[in-house]
Amino acid sequence: MCGIVGYTGLQPAAPILVSGLKKLEYRGYDSSGIAVEQGGSITCVCRAGKIDALEQSLGAFQLTGSCGIGHTRWATHGAPSEANAHPHMSCDGKIAIVHNGIIENHDELRRILEGRGHEFTSQTDSEVIVHLIEDAYASLAFDVSEADDLVDAVGGRVPHQPTVEVRRGEPSLLAQAVNMASSLLIGSWAICAMTEFEPGKIVCARKESPLVVGRGVNGMYISSDMTALSGIAKEVCVLEDGQLAELDERTFDVFKAHDDELIRVTPSMTELDWTVDWMDRGRFSDFMMKEISEQPRVIRDTLEDRFNGSALTVSELGLTHEELNLIDRVYIIACGTSYHASLIAKNLIEGWARIPCEVEVASEFRYRDPIITPSTLVVAVSQSGETADTLAAIRDAKIKGAKVFGITNVIGSPVARESDGVIYTKANKEVAVASTKSFTGQIVSLTLLAMLLAQSKGRLSQGQIRMLFTELVDTASQAEEILKDTEAVNEAAFACKDAHSAMFIGRGMGAAVAEEGALKLKEISYLHAEAYPAGEMKHGPIALIEPGFPVIAVATESPTYDKVLSNIQEAKARGAKIIAVATEGDERIGEFADHVIFIPKVRDALSPITAIIPLQLLAREIAILRGCNIDQPRNLAKSVTVE
Ligand code: F6R
Repeated sequence: MCGIVGYTGLQPAAPILVSGLKKLEYRGYDSSGIAVEQGGSITCVCRAGKIDALEQSLGAFQLTGSCGIGHTRWATHGAPSEANAHPHMSCDGKIAIVHNGIIENHDELRRILEGRGHEFTSQTDSEVIVHLIEDAYASLAFDVSEADDLVDAVGGRVPHQPTVEVRRGEPSLLAQAVNMASSLLIGSWAICAMTEFEPGKIVCARKESPLVVGRGVNGMYISSDMTALSGIAKEVCVLEDGQLAELDERTFDVFKAHDDELIRVTPSMTELDWTVDWMDRGRFSDFMMKEISEQPRVIRDTLEDRFNGSALTVSELGLTHEELNLIDRVYIIACGTSYHASLIAKNLIEGWARIPCEVEVASEFRYRDPIITPSTLVVAVSQSGETADTLAAIRDAKIKGAKVFGITNVIGSPVARESDGVIYTKANKEVAVASTKSFTGQIVSLTLLAMLLAQSKGRLSQGQIRMLFTELVDTASQAEEILKDTEAVNEAAFACKDAHSAMFIGRGMGAAVAEEGALKLKEISYLHAEAYPAGEMKHGPIALIEPGFPVIAVATESPTYDKVLSNIQEAKARGAKIIAVATEGDERIGEFADHVIFIPKVRDALSPITAIIPLQLLAREIAILRGCNIDQPRNLAKSVTVE
């Protein structure tokens, strides 16, 4: 979703901003822009579409200034257009801002600001921020107190320099103005602001939307995502909610907003090790393939040091053995792919630990009134660890007294910070928008959690835990086997590439795998796909089937294998083209399926870890054949930080 970069230092800002924005491309965006201050004024350039379009048009502007801010926008309020792209400028063109998040009271603020004479040039919710800062700045810097004078001030009849001086050590006028403006906002924000009145200065502030300030050799940097600082910042300070930072070319200060005042705080710095370049695709043509191929490593890393020979050990769980034992209800909350991983966990938690488990889409959970008691465990599953709905849901669950446990891929992410305990999925940076290796890391982590609950409740013996853990580790080499030979997948993809729609079916574990397979296909190939528990076919979806209609069946060895086979035959009888993911050695499936993708034999409970891989590969191959952008599908964002 939207991305922010900022730089003030010794070098020309424009190339640094563009390079930072390119590192944020993976998050998804539809327009971009930068504002650079030089020669006493701010030049703002915005373009709809790809960052390349922005970069090409910058040539005409000869931007040499060394202080600037930039933004990639993913449209929420107002179409993806040049006018709606950030940065936004104040009426007098002297202040520029970029914003991530959503301003919920923007309508009301806009009406008030328009009443005061402000002219808006976009339909975004964000633009109110720059006009509020403009008013606040005028009131602070020009010693005007009457509303009418403010109207004059924003009408362009302001002095060229502030008439009020700031004492040494105090926050700048811009910092105070940003703070004043923020106090009028309702919603979530990460804001970066600059003004030509204070050359070389950038002020940023956040509430519920991430911001990181970085110190490098050639200046100070800001970004909404650490990735943009890769290779340039030696150490970073992750701003906390309610904090505001003021940067110049040599240093930065952090303040905490307390009522109307800004109180200086000591920034907490983290050194960065950039020996691994996450933005390097290596030998792969796209990040999705690189990430699919990493899954055996993810399984091994996620399981490392989790079993001491007799028991599972998850020291960062944040719950004692006694507390675990008391849990009598589990809610798992997540979105998208993470939700599908959670569906798999429901079967394991109920099956092994015998604890009732509900899986809910976070955006629904947060607006319900679920039954939560002190013995309820709420598990939040989120790759990014910053999905707005998931975060809101865990905050709500905590208020209601639940213990919250996070499963996330991002160390120090909001989900990790706000949970009582956490398991990290060890997938490492996932760049492709379509989640693959994180899904695997999530299933493995959730499987560990289910085993742990079963261990605490005494529902699984030491021997059973040992056997399951060994088999879990073995899925890594089974995944390697699947990745070695993709011919059957490619043939199946070729057979489906011209379809208009496809159906994924499965039962039990296979039903959840089918859901994820359908999501992968639709999001990257734009081929409409639905997933149904195979038994549901006869209750409606079978009406869709006509000759040649692709039905992708998860038909691995399981207690319901025979039932799935019957459902496959029902589809086949109506002319469907059957693509089956089946277990090696299955001699019956070939009779009914047009294409069979075999995977190694694995226990049903662990089968999603391997069964999903052919479906990830299938979706990618179909998307390639249809000429789609694999890593950055249209309309999607990697990290969904708005509701
Ligand atoms: C699909 C995908 C999304 C995410 C969803 C939740 O490939 O990546 O469906 O799974 O937006 O994101 P996280 O896991 O970051 O909370």
